[in-house]
Amino acid sequence: MNKQRIAVYPGSFDPVTNGHLDVIRRAAGIFDKVIVGVGRNAGKSPLFTADERVALIQAAVSDLDNVEVESFDGMLVAFAKQHGASVLVKGLRAISDFEYEFQMALANRHLDPTVETMFLMTSAEYQFLSSSIVKEMVRVGGDCSPLVPSVVMSALRRRFDVNSCQR
Ligand code: PNS
Repeated sequence: MNKQRIAVYPGSFDPVTNGHLDVIRRAAGIFDKVIVGVGRNAGKSPLFTADERVALIQAAVSDLDNVEVESFDGMLVAFAKQHGASVLVKGLRAISDFEYEFQMALANRHLDPTVETMFLMTSAEYQFLSSSIVKEMVRVGGDCSPLVPSVVMSALRRRFDVNSCQR
């Protein structure tokens, strides 16, 4: 029997956006299994706890059979190895992402050369999108509902205590 191709898609996901979900869905079409790894300490003061971030992603990918979501601490390559994953999937937006992601990919390769990093180019409509931009939009009352799944929209409204995200 062929060995399963397992990938880890890591991030802070504070919160998950439609840009992240686009990468998850595309990765799920390429690999036998995708494990979304939520870094517990990735953000200095995250808006959502790691468990909340995991639950929001789980709700958003419930239709995908081959996607699992789990939080992790410590070394990403160790988390990947524990799960039998030999690939780290990263989304790449504009040129600005490249330098940081290149550095991380080389650092991870240094830590474990058997784990490969693969990049999926973000779809054009999500080039500007990030968790930080979404949080900023909610803060200033902009319409961010097309940018995040509805569970995240509801969680953001509760967290910021706003009734609507419409302008
Ligand atoms: O969405 P982010 O904030 O870019 O995600 C960051 C994350 C979780 C991918 C990154 O902080 C990470 O890989 N953390 C684990 C620690 C680690 O292994 N670092 C890489 C080598 S120094």
